[in-house]
Amino acid sequence: MAFKVGLLGVGTVGTGTAQILLNPEGRQPLLQEIEIHRVGVRSLDKPREVQLPPELMTTDLESIVTDPAVDIVVEVLGGLEPARSLILKAITQGKHVVTANKAVISRYGAEIFTAAEEAGVYVLLEAAVGGGIPVIQPLKQSLGVNRIQSVIGIVNGTTNYILTRMQTEGGEFSDILADAQSLGYAEADPTADVDGLDAADKIAILASLAFAGRIKLDDVYCEGIRQVSAADISYAQKLGFVIKLLAFAKREELAATAPPDADLLQVRVHPTLLPKTHPLASINGVYNAILVEGDPIGQVVFSGPGAGSGPTASAVVSDILNIAAVLKTAGESHRLHPLLSCAHQHYCAI
Ligand code: HSE
Repeated sequence: MAFKVGLLGVGTVGTGTAQILLNPEGRQPLLQEIEIHRVGVRSLDKPREVQLPPELMTTDLESIVTDPAVDIVVEVLGGLEPARSLILKAITQGKHVVTANKAVISRYGAEIFTAAEEAGVYVLLEAAVGGGIPVIQPLKQSLGVNRIQSVIGIVNGTTNYILTRMQTEGGEFSDILADAQSLGYAEADPTADVDGLDAADKIAILASLAFAGRIKLDDVYCEGIRQVSAADISYAQKLGFVIKLLAFAKREELAATAPPDADLLQVRVHPTLLPKTHPLASINGVYNAILVEGDPIGQVVFSGPGAGSGPTASAVVSDILNIAAVLKTAGESHRLHPLLSCAHQHYCAI
């Protein structure tokens, strides 16, 4: 049984994904049963780092999500549109979806997961947060029994790179940002990263998973790192701290008068003073890390490469494999596996 993938996008993540799918040798045997059936791109003429058979390529992105032969649509286009519409269309066509799109999921997750539940398909998003770090599935599955108290993360590699260099070199934000842009570590338009918006998307997703709710992006307090000065970093260092851009989702217990099941969540992104002994203080450069605290497990730290073609593709392909494994076991009459589904019935106050 072969599983057919419709790949939407051959940018950084799409290239890494195609490279893995085209070279399955030495990896999980199930990978050999997954084939790239169609590939949707914005331009056919652009030079690419991966060789894809020309007959698979099209600029008609919608034809991929409506292709009856496609089992799994992999959306790695980025941006809000047409990504959101294509994901929804794929779902209504009965396709399973794998996406790395944190912006779409943080804004339209409720709509997408409701549609997926109605259609009986999976929408998996391991690559949307933390690049290659496995954190979405562990939160849902391995830690699923825990009452999560907090999720605290360094979830943006660009800002962590800039802050790390400010710390080690003593430079000002604007100089190090300019250098990071010239070296390719920061985007030409760095707004989403340095203003904390990318981290806000990611913590909205993590909070929704950890607290079984739908945390709206508008409810996330967000402050970036533009105002952090070399003097701030230097004073922090003298006092035994580092400055990190942290994304928080924390459960606050309410007063005794509140209903017993009421919780209040704080979800926020901002530069934070961290004692040098804190588990996240030593996460430097483009690396990401997410500290989860739950009952009964205590503290768990997930860390690793938070971006990049290979690491992010690793997460994308793990989602494809998860879906293929369930479909293979269950055959055509599969039902949603509750542990894989991202949909939630419960809502938290914020
Ligand atoms: N711009 C993001 C970062 C890429 O710097 O972490 C991964 O989402």
